[in-house]
Amino acid sequence: MSRIHEALKKAEQEKAMSQPGSRVETTPAAVEVAEAATAAMPALSTAPGMSFNADSVLSQARQIRWAPDTNCMLFFNSEEHASGMEEFRTLRSRLYQAREKQPLSKILITSALPKEGKSFTSANLAQVLARQHGRRVLLIDGDLRNPQLHKLLGTDAGPGLFEYLRSEADEFSILQRGPLENLFFIPAGNYSANPAELLANGRLRNLLNRLEATFDWIIVDSAPAVPVTDAVLMANDCDGVLLVVRSNSTPTDAARRARREFAERNVIGVVLNGITPELAPYMQYYYAAYGRDGQAESKN
Ligand SMILES: Nc1ncnc2c1ncn2[C@@H]1O[C@H](COP(=O)(O)OP(=O)(O)O)[C@@H](O)[C@H]1O
Ligand SMILES: [Mg+2]
Repeated sequence: MSRIHEALKKAEQEKAMSQPGSRVETTPAAVEVAEAATAAMPALSTAPGMSFNADSVLSQARQIRWAPDTNCMLFFNSEEHASGMEEFRTLRSRLYQAREKQPLSKILITSALPKEGKSFTSANLAQVLARQHGRRVLLIDGDLRNPQLHKLLGTDAGPGLFEYLRSEADEFSILQRGPLENLFFIPAGNYSANPAELLANGRLRNLLNRLEATFDWIIVDSAPAVPVTDAVLMANDCDGVLLVVRSNSTPTDAARRARREFAERNVIGVVLNGITPELAPYMQYYYAAYGRDGQAESKN
């Protein structure tokens, strides 16, 4: 490219940045992240130093006809009082309470072992958050080893996070929007046998930081924390971690070990999933909010 061409392009970009609707991040951290991301991804469609404009992000999301599994996706059901819904509303309230005390918008959902309800919790939490008027929510399938969320939503499995982490896709091509106005989704994408290196390459942090201004909540589902390190790596890029424990299933040792894995991270609470029907009227989920020091503050 000639120097004149370069200069013209730069002038055009500067003009675009000063237009109404283009927002420049002012915090030093955000600028640093945006610049790093641009350097790593030349194909990106925003100018250096800019975060995304929310309207532009949302209008470019792929509109897809989802066919949600209404047995598990409680809020896609026409019933307003199906079992479990109230517990997710309680969990939502607890998250807002926690947010009064700390910056909290990017939440990692994990658990010690497979099949404890991470995906179930992520999907329903994202839905209950998105049901609130004006609250925009992004659900990300961060379980690159065993992605399930696209099945629960009944939508395309990719392209997704995997392709983004490999610099094969940009934010716009992986973002899906379905029938709920405020709920957006990024699938895991192609299966990856060993995603740990990809998760540590800094691109996940770029993605979350660039999209953070567009969404009120970003809920990230993940792989189990005891057998593999993926979730611990991802926790570095999130504001807080919710640990799911499955009643009568998660061995105590495994739950303790998972808690230890996140000792240096901000564990904001524990969700007790799948309690027995006798206790259901009183407590289907148990949620304990923890302070940064790990001491229980309240129980419900
Ligand atoms: N509270 C629940 N009520 C009913 N089914 C559940 C519940 N929690 C999990 N499941 C089901 O259990 C299975 C495993 O849950 P899943 O969320 O996929 O676990 P994980 O993501 O931890 O591997 C899925 O079939 C899911 O639909
Ligand atoms: Mg899962």
